[in-house]
Amino acid sequence: MCGIVGYTGTQDAAPILLNGLKKLEYRGYDSAGIAVVNDNNISISKVTGRISNLCEKTNDGQLLPGNLGIGHTRWVTHGAPTDTNAHPHTSNDGKFAVVHNGIIENYMELREELIDNGYHFESQTDTEVVVHLIEMYYTGDFKLAVMKASERLQGSYALGIVCADEPERIFVVREASPLILGVGIGSNYFASDVTALVAYTKNIIYLEDGEFAEITADNIQIYDCAGKPIEKRTNRITWDIQAAERGGYEHFMLKEIMEQPRAIEATMSPRLQNGEVHLDDLDLSDDYLKSINKIVITACGSAYYAGCSGKNTIEKLCKIPVQVELASELRYNEPLIDEHTLLIVLSQSGETADTIAAMKECQSLGAKTLAIVNVVGSTIAKLADYTLYTWAGPEIAVATTKGYTTQLIVMYLFAIYAAKKLEKISASEYKELIEELKSLPKLIQQVLDMNPSIPELAKKYHSSDSMFFIGRNTDYAVALEAALKMKEISYIHAESYAAGELKHGTIALIEEHCPVIALCCNEKMTEKTMNNIVEVKARGAEVLAVTFKENTKMASLADDMIMIPKVNVLLGAPVEIVPLQLLAYYVAKENNCDIDKPKNLAKSVTVE
Ligand code: M6R
Repeated sequence: MCGIVGYTGTQDAAPILLNGLKKLEYRGYDSAGIAVVNDNNISISKVTGRISNLCEKTNDGQLLPGNLGIGHTRWVTHGAPTDTNAHPHTSNDGKFAVVHNGIIENYMELREELIDNGYHFESQTDTEVVVHLIEMYYTGDFKLAVMKASERLQGSYALGIVCADEPERIFVVREASPLILGVGIGSNYFASDVTALVAYTKNIIYLEDGEFAEITADNIQIYDCAGKPIEKRTNRITWDIQAAERGGYEHFMLKEIMEQPRAIEATMSPRLQNGEVHLDDLDLSDDYLKSINKIVITACGSAYYAGCSGKNTIEKLCKIPVQVELASELRYNEPLIDEHTLLIVLSQSGETADTIAAMKECQSLGAKTLAIVNVVGSTIAKLADYTLYTWAGPEIAVATTKGYTTQLIVMYLFAIYAAKKLEKISASEYKELIEELKSLPKLIQQVLDMNPSIPELAKKYHSSDSMFFIGRNTDYAVALEAALKMKEISYIHAESYAAGELKHGTIALIEEHCPVIALCCNEKMTEKTMNNIVEVKARGAEVLAVTFKENTKMASLADDMIMIPKVNVLLGAPVEIVPLQLLAYYVAKENNCDIDKPKNLAKSVTVE
């Protein structure tokens, strides 16, 4: 989704804005622009396409001198990706420029009103109404104009606004769209997320909905929606710049795949001490836990698929029924939820609009919410009754890898913890599960080390138009995520099917040389899935099987094999997915795809 960034200080603003925008590229965008204020004048440069085009057009920012500015990467919602629709947008008198992340829902009526008042529009965007409203309300008081304009807006917005008459200050406004402030020495910043600022400062202030701020080089003043000054805590972030860079890997996705043993260790080890699961950040009373009669997991995309795997583990260990719902559906389903329902919300970014809406709907019905989130201070983390962070570090590639596997780990920790409290597992089972959990980083490292043939397999399979991922039960939940990984980065049509469903329709699609990726890591299901492999092979499919190395029978059946170590099926998804993340990565590489920034996708989906 769109990214915004702003700077004021003693240095030239444009290079800092361009650098910040490069760090936001991972969010997905189709055009970009910057505005720099200098000598009561606003200079603007905008391009369609990549930030590198903007660097070229501005000679790395040197053509726009000045110490204060705002920048934007645009991900199309209203109007085509053109230079004119790119932000920043300017007022008719040229005094104001605005960047915006979010959607102004009432922009049509505001547009008509502004046109009636003599304002003309350059772009088709919803954002342009904001800058004209500010011009309309400006009578020499920048702050007042920003407040009055904001009061008229409905929807979601993080805004950065500059004024040629007041070249020392930037105003930023937040409503239902992420916005953070960066505190420097003699320089201050704002951005959509930490990655844009971490090279300059680690001191961050999180703005809340309804708040706005005035940023000058020496000060940040925050106000509530009535314009009353408020004090906010400055947080020190622990990420360093290396964590947000590629560190020698060709792509962020590969780096993040390789980081999984470490990310899982970081998520798990503070919570596993002296042979016990400690969830200190989860203050659930025993009485409350016992009162839960249903768990609903909600999320989007990969996080939803993590929920499908989590369901198996939580249900089996805690003996509580678990329902997994797409957030974009749940909110419209009139869900049967009450105060005895625990809602588990999964989100890497913590900013996914559909997930937030589903969460609010369930909260209004009385459910308590447990958020499993990666980004500290994100909207979902703040809205939830309880939050467990997945300490995965910054995930930059649009395709999630370590975000997904660490979500699984937190669900496993929760399941083991709750099962013990609810007395649904014995002391020895509890001990055994903890030992198995502890071994996961090592097992994932083994998978990374024991499959040097995956790039070769990618060469064999990359030219297919279609692929099928099949599996049963726990394998099926992993197949869902494996197929999503393949399609989102390689653009190959990839579908996942519960293997038992093949006969009910899908098998009609299997033809000569059609790749079928068969997940066969759940020992109880091995025989049955192998029968399905026989069926698809009889119709000419090429089968690549993912199985544990003790499954010696597979060698004579499948065309190709990926081996993983044997793992308890209730904890196996993070081990099983890793080779399939690698397969998707190398297939996309063979097809020369833009792996970290796949077309049409955004990292953080902050609109419906
Ligand atoms: O930030 P979230 O976890 O809430 O994001 C949810 C989905 O948008 C996300 O998992 C998406 O499906 C990824 N591109 C998958 O790799």
